[in-house]
Amino acid sequence: MMQNSKLTIFYLLTMVVFFACHSCSKKNEHPIPDIAFYIEPIYIYDPEYTELLHDYGVVVISNEGYLNNGILLVNVGNHEFKAYDATCTFEIEAGCQVSPNENQINSAICSCCGSNYELSFGTPNSGPAKYLLKEYRVVSDGDYLIIYNK
Ligand code: FES
Repeated sequence: MMQNSKLTIFYLLTMVVFFACHSCSKKNEHPIPDIAFYIEPIYIYDPEYTELLHDYGVVVISNEGYLNNGILLVNVGNHEFKAYDATCTFEIEAGCQVSPNENQINSAICSCCGSNYELSFGTPNSGPAKYLLKEYRVVSDGDYLIIYNK
């Protein structure tokens, strides 16, 4: 009898932990679905990418990323580059894109909802957006950058 009640308690605890973890992982899912892509290597000394030669410079790569909303390629300093999907995370199906905020260094703003994101980590710091910008992988050899996902 004692054995059975111990087993029942263990089972209930296991279920509680399972559902708690399951709901955690759901909360951490990004609203922008994963898409697989690869962009041809970008030569950072090419005239169209001169913004990448200084800290916090941003270049928008059109027709890439989720729903072809574009990708923001950012020099975040210390010879490190980051790539974010330009889709605003507030209403991802609205077709609105974030673009470099001309009034604030190292940030991008959504033209629809006004959500502003800092670009070192893609964190929203004003407006209704709650999720970070979706980040993609960047590999650099110093001269060339490759952006890809998956
Ligand atoms: S995209 Fe719809 S609100 Fe920013």
